[in-house]
Amino acid sequence: MKSIAALLLLLAILSCKQTSRSQQINPYHYTPVKRIVVKHGAIATANPLASEIGAMILKKGGNAVDAAIAAQLALAVVYPAAGNIGGGGFMVIHLKNGKNTAIDFREEAPGKATRDMYLDKKGNADPQLSRNGDLSVGVPGTVAGIFLAHKEYGKLPMKELIQPAIDLAERGYAITATEARWLNENQQDFKKYNTIMPVFVKESDWHAGDTLLQKDLAHTLELIRDSGQAGFYEGETAQKIVSEMQRGNGMITLQDLKNYQAKERTPAVFDYKGYTIETMPLPSSGGVVLQQMLGMLSNYPVDQYGFESVKSVQLMTEIERRAYADRAQYLGDPDFVKVPVKELVSESYLKQRMTNYNPDYATPSDSISAGVIPPESEETTHLSVVDDSGNAVAVTYTLNNLYGSQVVVGHAGFFLNDEMDDFSAKPGAPNMFGLLGTEANAIAPGKRMLSSMTPTIVLKNDKPYLVIGSPGGATIITSVFQTIVNILDFNINVSDAVNKPKFHEQWKPDVVYVEKGFPDSVKQAMERMGYSFKERGSIGRTEVIKMTPDSIVAVADDRGDDSAAGY
Ligand code: DON
Repeated sequence: MKSIAALLLLLAILSCKQTSRSQQINPYHYTPVKRIVVKHGAIATANPLASEIGAMILKKGGNAVDAAIAAQLALAVVYPAAGNIGGGGFMVIHLKNGKNTAIDFREEAPGKATRDMYLDKKGNADPQLSRNGDLSVGVPGTVAGIFLAHKEYGKLPMKELIQPAIDLAERGYAITATEARWLNENQQDFKKYNTIMPVFVKESDWHAGDTLLQKDLAHTLELIRDSGQAGFYEGETAQKIVSEMQRGNGMITLQDLKNYQAKERTPAVFDYKGYTIETMPLPSSGGVVLQQMLGMLSNYPVDQYGFESVKSVQLMTEIERRAYADRAQYLGDPDFVKVPVKELVSESYLKQRMTNYNPDYATPSDSISAGVIPPESEETTHLSVVDDSGNAVAVTYTLNNLYGSQVVVGHAGFFLNDEMDDFSAKPGAPNMFGLLGTEANAIAPGKRMLSSMTPTIVLKNDKPYLVIGSPGGATIITSVFQTIVNILDFNINVSDAVNKPKFHEQWKPDVVYVEKGFPDSVKQAMERMGYSFKERGSIGRTEVIKMTPDSIVAVADDRGDDSAAGY
């Protein structure tokens, strides 16, 4: 209560102080801010309230890790479709002392999981089982990730970082039009997959501006505040998760929860045209695939081809096709399978990979079973932060698709993920993003499912230059790839780099997905070369922070309620 009052007061003060933010924001009346230019610190997230909380923490003297944690916890309240404590993700960090590191808090398969657990009697993958309900849930990692990042790199006490989220859950906030639409669209599934009806179920329609009160979630967050990580993985919350599993035929046990550990990993760090790219290693495929794409691209003068030219789009499409084909074949959790990462990103391999590239024709993807990408009923979320002293943090975390498994832990108030669908249920069976996999990404107890999340920091002369990332399932890596190339090669401004229509090719199915507004002239020229195009909903929702010599520019994607804040 105290801190929500403090937040409101702070917001009122900020709005009077002629900062670059144009409007006052409070939990019942707020508008996204799409671009800010500030001096000290900035954050961009999927929701204005979460961004304001992150900025408040920066202003209080918290570092970028503190602000990222506070924003993640706030998103778990104000953005229940993807913000979470029941899911998992990845954090990439650059510290002012030059250290690069990464936190892997990806979900993992429960101890009782088996390789063929999603196959029906005929041996076919049953997507219903891996995408909805308790059986689709991986052991959540978000809370462990937050505590590991905080223990190693945080500055302010965790209690200060979590309290704003508790207050928003306890006292409520006004939902956005998008949230209202999503909640309405998912009512049937909420009813189908929950045995104890959560607050998200409502007999009449949700509307923009309705207050969402989440008392159960506030209580769970208080347990985490008071008992730390054990407030989630042990005791009352753990018991509630296990009871939920028992009611809904899920697999997670008390032991699975107690055993879960976030892992600090060495990030993928590589050079691209004089910049240093720091990004997420396995078990996210994001880093390997991004390194492959930028590596292949570095052999061509793409800057001379120009933004949205037939030549650059065709080249990048072919690069994406080859990188995604490797993803399907080779990548999985490195703690369980041997992945030839060094070979996959070596200069000679990447050169050889492009030897069958023809600038005049489409290279056909072999046709085995083609996956189908659903239009846009998916959601993950990314946040980018920089602070006053030169620390930068990129976090992407998720429940997998919108509201994850649709299951809310009874009396605990939070959604559980359906991340088990990111495993390869069997070779050749596409996941919900149409991605294929092999044995490398088969299910095994304790194994982490392959991800595409690509939180990334670009360094220039060893200092943060861009902080970047996106949701979007399979399209995450291409969104990050194209936004980086838009800025570094095509030299276009950050807002356009983020918001101009993107294109996406993922090997299978053999089609180039484009967003509305993608130039017809490029499509038509490429159709003559043998490409097929398909328009789809959003490709990514990218949050970018760019450091210039005398200011920080934070841009939040126009595709959603995304918002930037800073000082
Ligand atoms: O880890 C992954 O790659 C997926 N579970 C991400 C899902 C996602 O981005 C959905 N939303 N936009």
